Amino acid sequence: MPRRGWMLVVVAAALTGVAVAVVMHPVAHASPDPAVLARRIALGKQLFNDPSLSADGTVRCASCHIPERSYADRRPVAIGVHGHTGTRNTPSLLNVAAGSESSFFWDGRRTALEQAVLDPLTNPVEMGLHDHAQLLQRITRNPAYRAAFAQAFPDRSDSLTPSEVGTTLAAYVRSLKQPDSPFDRYQRGDRAALNPRAQLGLALFQGKAGCAECHRLDGASSALTDHAYHRSGVGLDGITANLPALTEGVIARSLQGSAIGDRVATHVDEAQLGRFNVTLDPADIGLFRTPSLRGVSRTAPYMHDGSVPTLDEAIDREVYYRSLQAGYPLNLSVEERQDLKAFLEAL
Ligand code: HEC
Ligand code: HEC
Repeated sequence: MPRRGWMLVVVAAALTGVAVAVVMHPVAHASPDPAVLARRIALGKQLFNDPSLSADGTVRCASCHIPERSYADRRPVAIGVHGHTGTRNTPSLLNVAAGSESSFFWDGRRTALEQAVLDPLTNPVEMGLHDHAQLLQRITRNPAYRAAFAQAFPDRSDSLTPSEVGTTLAAYVRSLKQPDSPFDRYQRGDRAALNPRAQLGLALFQGKAGCAECHRLDGASSALTDHAYHRSGVGLDGITANLPALTEGVIARSLQGSAIGDRVATHVDEAQLGRFNVTLDPADIGLFRTPSLRGVSRTAPYMHDGSVPTLDEAIDREVYYRSLQAGYPLNLSVEERQDLKAFLEAL
């Protein structure tokens, strides 16, 4: 970016109160040489697994993004420091930054992974640290971390910044890729990789059932999402009566940046407003980001609030709701739903 561009960013950041530390370190995000990147990934992995970065010393990223569970947790909603429960289902982190993905969380409130990975550390019901100053203090009191950060950012002269912590955690999260699935092998031309049932399911998914309109199969990485926001009907029942007061409250606070994350994790009703929390546009009430369906058979329970326990029920719900939206019944037989399931299991 030309010099004048940076000036504008810094001035804009100062005016809007965006964390200046993050924008003033463009170097940290430039792609480093492979040896440095490897050091950042290794350091990010250590931080990801370190419970001392939480308020009560018991919660680490991997407490909720559990490696053996596709980096999700099989709970309806997350449980963090002091046993506090959140309001949303923990998504898998596999392929989270694949392809053109540039929005994070169920409501897309973050557009940079480097920022998204810092939010849980200070979220009151996740890791519960007071602020970034406390985070930096916890990290720098450990001499091994000080040395590792110096090696991961060899050109820097000043002391540790939140932006560097974000860069290492993001480097690690980016490295979490789902292993080749039967569907990947099928896409590359191995027709036998999908069993006949799953092949019928694929045809339904793209055809009559209309799933691929949102869970898209095109593009190099077939991320199975359109990166857009849609209504699902999940969770709206509980808040419709109280909607005017609820939305007025959110608008009055006109939430900014990471504060959105702290509020939605601690206010069940506001969490159900979805994308509205980010845009404050009434048309966005109850809209959620289309989740990738990669590895979906291993990440029950489902939907943003974890309210749907099994894959069969998730399929039934989607068929029902998408029929309502289309204005005509999708008419999928029990057999056909099983075909869809076989396809989802091959992802
Ligand atoms: C207490 C459980 C918990 C802990 C601890 C936790 N997360 Fe999460 N994570 C969640 C939940 C729940 C969401 C979804 C929140 C939402 O969308 O509002 C999430 C979302 C994310 C996302 C966005 C994924 C997507 O698909 O958009 C990333 C990235 C992420 N977490 C990384 C981390 C990192 C890095 C850490 C440690 C610094 C961490 N998480 C700690 C529960 C947790
Ligand atoms: C109009 C867009 C759209 C269409 C069409 C659509 N989905 Fe979805 N799907 C979504 C959104 C958005 C969510 C998340 C909703 C929420 O959490 O409230 C979702 C969630 C899901 C989930 C849960 C995933 C998880 O990780 O929690 C499954 C499974 C699913 N859809 C399968 C299907 C199937 C099968 C079809 C075809 C019958 C389909 N979807 C059609 C947008 C769509």
